[in-house]
Amino acid sequence: MTKLAELISLKTFGDERGSLISLQLNDPLSFEIKRIYYIFNTKSGIKRGLHAHKKLKQILICTSGSCKITLDDGKNRETVELKSPTKGLFVGAMLWREMHEFSVDCVLMVLASEEYDANDYLRNYDEFKAACFNNSEL
Ligand code: TYD
Repeated sequence: MTKLAELISLKTFGDERGSLISLQLNDPLSFEIKRIYYIFNTKSGIKRGLHAHKKLKQILICTSGSCKITLDDGKNRETVELKSPTKGLFVGAMLWREMHEFSVDCVLMVLASEEYDANDYLRNYDEFKAACFNNSEL
């Protein structure tokens, strides 16, 4: 089965005071960040996401608490739990994503390769699958 979830281990500087993680281009970021947003205060039982992006690349980091991310490439589906600020989940273009099982203290930070563009979203799963199929036919 294809591996969809690309987890990045983030180098952690730790000493007796605690821990620090730095993210910069090429170390470990593989693309330039144009936008950062974070999701918090998520109500119990809620699912977020439920879309794919045509072009956008993202890295998701759960800086506090935990949540689960399900990724789907139109053929395979994989769920990963994010529960550490030391792990980043790379999510490339054309992957359907669903975020769920947020803990009450979850803060999910998203580093994005592009500014917000509503036209980059595929919000209908059937249209997403059709677009995946058309891409693979090229
Ligand atoms: P939405 O796409 O529903 O979030 P999720 O993918 O987590 O389900 O976004 C919620 C609202 O925030 C929606 O009105 C669009 C707006 N928004 C922005 O204005 N800028 C952004 O960068 C993002 C991610 C969302």
